[in-house]
Amino acid sequence: MLERPYNHIFDAHWQLYQTILREDYMGHQSIYSVLKQFLTSYIESTPVAFLDIGSGDAQVIAEHIKDINITSYTAIDLSADALAFATHNLALLNCELELLNCDFVQGVTDLIETDRRFDIIFTGFALHHLSDSDKASMFKNLRQLLNNNGILLYIDVCRREGESRNEYLERYLAPTWSHWQALDDAQTELLNQHVRSSDFPATRSLLESMAVQAGFASCDCLLQDDEHANILLAMHG
Ligand SMILES: C[S@@+](CC[C@H](N)C(=O)[O-])C[C@H]1O[C@@H](n2cnc3c(N)ncnc32)[C@H](O)[C@@H]1O
Repeated sequence: MLERPYNHIFDAHWQLYQTILREDYMGHQSIYSVLKQFLTSYIESTPVAFLDIGSGDAQVIAEHIKDINITSYTAIDLSADALAFATHNLALLNCELELLNCDFVQGVTDLIETDRRFDIIFTGFALHHLSDSDKASMFKNLRQLLNNNGILLYIDVCRREGESRNEYLERYLAPTWSHWQALDDAQTELLNQHVRSSDFPATRSLLESMAVQAGFASCDCLLQDDEHANILLAMHG
């Protein structure tokens, strides 16, 4: 049984998330563009093994890595509905695909035991569902899953320095009522319940200190977008 809060918004309501992506309410387009630029310059001729933690339907990542030299793409996600869409979206990639429908903490532990290693580990808007101590353990486990010269690319929502979780929730959720107009009131209420019960974003400085504690050689901030409360970190293994 999962002990982490997770109210299955992504199982029954994937369409709601697709609307958020279509309207770019979470700022995917700008932060994934920076990710793409980074990957394009970082990955040269040798093809890479790519692991995506909390892939969802992989719609945005597939668009942004389709021209990158990838030998295999492995996704972990708890939502079977999202992975069903992912199969379709990932047809863009010309590589081996593996979709693992399980909890990402368990999935990562299982992969460590199989001795599988990856060149790029990516996670987008997913690890904020973990408590800070579970995020720190996850970073340690993900580092173990990296090949030499591998890199962890982390996109997620984040709190401002000194901002409490409650202050963050009020700031993040206010525009969902005033500006996210493609969602009806029932969808906005559902989204608010999900965020209030399941989102535990860290601050940038906390994430950076977790990266150091996990043994990463460096942690570079490639983008911090305060308007959308999101961040992109590159952690070198
Ligand atoms: C906000 S979506 C992010 C999807 C995509 N990566 C993106 O950047 O838009 C979060 C995803 O994390 C998945 N997720 C949340 N908790 C999980 C867990 N404990 N194990 C596996 N997947 C989980 C959800 O099912 C959902 O697909």
